Amino acid sequence: MPRHIKIFDTTLRDGEQAPGCSMNPEEKLEVALQLERLGVDIIEAGFPISSKGDFDSVAEIASKVKDSQICGLARAVEADIDAAWQAIKSAVAPRIHVFIATSPIHMEYKLKMKPDEVLARAADMTAYARKYCPDVEFSAEDAMRSEPEFLARVVDAAIRAGATTINIPDTVGYTTTGEMRAMIEYLRHRTSADDRVIFSVHCHNDLGCAVANSLAGVQGGASQVECTVNGIGERAGNTALEEFVMALRVRSQLYDADSRIDTQQIWRTSKLVYHITGQSAPLNKAIVGQNTFSHEAGIHQHGMLASRETYEIFTPETVGKTPDRMVLGKHSGRHAFEERLSELGFELTSEQVDEYFEKFKEICDKKKTVNDRDLEALISAKNVAGVYELDRFDVHAGNYTSPTCVIRLKRDGKIYEEVSLGDGPIDAAYNAIDKIMKLPPHRLENYSIRSTSEGKDTLGEVLVKISCDGEVYNGRGLSTDIIESSILAYLHAANKFVSLT
Ligand code: KIV
Ligand code: ZN
Repeated sequence: MPRHIKIFDTTLRDGEQAPGCSMNPEEKLEVALQLERLGVDIIEAGFPISSKGDFDSVAEIASKVKDSQICGLARAVEADIDAAWQAIKSAVAPRIHVFIATSPIHMEYKLKMKPDEVLARAADMTAYARKYCPDVEFSAEDAMRSEPEFLARVVDAAIRAGATTINIPDTVGYTTTGEMRAMIEYLRHRTSADDRVIFSVHCHNDLGCAVANSLAGVQGGASQVECTVNGIGERAGNTALEEFVMALRVRSQLYDADSRIDTQQIWRTSKLVYHITGQSAPLNKAIVGQNTFSHEAGIHQHGMLASRETYEIFTPETVGKTPDRMVLGKHSGRHAFEERLSELGFELTSEQVDEYFEKFKEICDKKKTVNDRDLEALISAKNVAGVYELDRFDVHAGNYTSPTCVIRLKRDGKIYEEVSLGDGPIDAAYNAIDKIMKLPPHRLENYSIRSTSEGKDTLGEVLVKISCDGEVYNGRGLSTDIIESSILAYLHAANKFVSLT
């Protein structure tokens, strides 16, 4: 029986902290419910003391998710721990995660605390959290640049104070596989940890080693691995959940360990997080890149025809990637539409199916066939509810005229109309939207467009990133008309700013 490795997902905390990855409460709940479906053991839902919005969102997730534990992060101070507990206390299985840094550089420059003070604080605050919650995780921030003997003393103090999980973060992505394995082995033997204490690793990817270091942690005896979907996170990100989980599953005999993740939910989960964060997978991204299962070279294709195993170590179906099928078109009914969505893993209410079916029919008027990639884009390109919606637009552009756009938006039943010039039709449209929405000074950080499938009648999918008040907001828009998708993407991002502030 392989050892069970717990998957602790921090997409909604460490992942969401990354520039451009902020999510609104509705999106966070959607991600949390998908993580529950994926079979994640623990969801770190946020950092409740950091803002009222984060507190409310953690509390909402705690009350709705039933099959995963819900964790709230806290610095080693009472106010943080109080807030974390208040936010997670309604969860079926709550966990408080207390952290303090233990490396010389962090203690001296960030905390401005002496090692003995850090040691005492770690023990006191772990004990304080235990008064609220039977499940407390203690993390030694920047553990892999800490002095091992001191780290062992802090870990031991946290265990004696009641920590049930000890997490060893490689906060700056500095360590190597050998060091990580040795550190976990060392701490397991140098502390009073018994079999009930779980060791965990939390790796960052600054040198591209996060997944490898997490696997090394497992070899050293860690039974929990912390990761994020698509590896999102500050700087180069965190251990990518899908990569770690598949490495463990494919080589479970070697590691004599496995997770309880339903790998068939991986594709869907990854797409959801990419869509919400306004990103898309690099074509050659491990596990979820579009090219992961493409075989171009003749010799590979020949081998694949003889036996898939010649060049594939797991099938697309294992990670929930269904074969593309051109089944839908203008004659397809609501039933066929709903069935295909459910085959693709989308669980929608009847009202949502009605709403998307309307949009699907509009697309069918302009496009002969709709394939799975179009459908996935359609479902994920929804706008933020309750703010500005596009009513209509009119653009004038050419190489001899000044591009102009008249735009009309709706908000709570009220109509707003503006006209503006620009360097091009899209710039003109964005200027007109700015006039209506009166955004504070902001910058368009990124604009990209791609087709969702082949053919001239394909859908144009636009991704934008705008920065405003020091935060970055992503938007996505989809239409057969690229000016309309550009407007929808910009509105999506701007609406996030309005709804989050
Ligand atoms: O990277 C890190 O050290 C963290 C801790 C808060 C666990 O994210
Ligand atoms: Zn981290």
